[in-house]
Amino acid sequence: MATTTGAPGTALDRTQAIRWRQTWAQVMGGFVPHLASLEETLCRAAETVRGRAPSRVLDLGGGPGVLAERMARRWPDAAVTLMDLDPVLLALARGALDGEVRTLKGDLSSPGWVASAGGDHDLITVVMTLHYLPPVQVRAFYDDARRCLASGGLLIVADLMPDDGVPSLMSALDPAPDEAAAELAWAQWWGGVGEVKGLRPLLAQRAAAFRERPPAEFTAPASWHVAIAREAGFGEAGILWRCGRHAALAAVA
Ligand SMILES: C[S@@+](CC[C@H](N)C(=O)[O-])C[C@H]1O[C@@H](n2cnc3c(N)ncnc32)[C@H](O)[C@@H]1O
Repeated sequence: MATTTGAPGTALDRTQAIRWRQTWAQVMGGFVPHLASLEETLCRAAETVRGRAPSRVLDLGGGPGVLAERMARRWPDAAVTLMDLDPVLLALARGALDGEVRTLKGDLSSPGWVASAGGDHDLITVVMTLHYLPPVQVRAFYDDARRCLASGGLLIVADLMPDDGVPSLMSALDPAPDEAAAELAWAQWWGGVGEVKGLRPLLAQRAAAFRERPPAEFTAPASWHVAIAREAGFGEAGILWRCGRHAALAAVA
């Protein structure tokens, strides 16, 4: 079920929310090499495919809303919605982005999220999130995402997608991210958030949610994602951006 209200019992001021989001962005940058170039590329693709700025944007598994905020500021007339399952990350997004971005609680592992999000979006982004779902749910996700897009709308899926074709020169030249360091920074970030008294009730809810849905850590090659997107009815699908083992697929509904 979707909700736009802050969680009861959460005491998190705006300064704290902004600070935790800033360090989150650093942590994510440790996992995804050249994250800023990915974000710039996906924004340009969205502007190019429609010939104008998107007016309805949905960021799925958007976490504390770093990308959602960038898109809302780049396209001030757009209605930007962030959906996530994690109550802690949603609280950080709401604490920092009040009014700029609509936040919804939703679970991508079941089709109920489609009705909450609604249709007719020009752009859907899913960054470093699909690997939480097992293959059968990733397949269903592409169908569900297409139903949320307007005709000609763009889906961008960025995640670990190893290259099973001819590797790009950029991939070969780029140093691999230090995954152990990124994992440590992730653990430290969550350890720090765990100390924030006002977030404790939400941390307990988070633990319960992920106990039922442990991350699948599913990684498929880019060609698999392209094939699944086409099977789901996307007219065009291909790799828009790659850096090492990370890639972004673009698919046009
Ligand atoms: C690694 S984080 C990436 C967050 C954000 N996209 C970013 O790049 O900063 C993965 C996100 O997926 C969310 N997530 C995982 N499983 C989910 C599910 N079943 N439904 C909705 N969100 C989910 C997590 O809560 C988390 O916010």
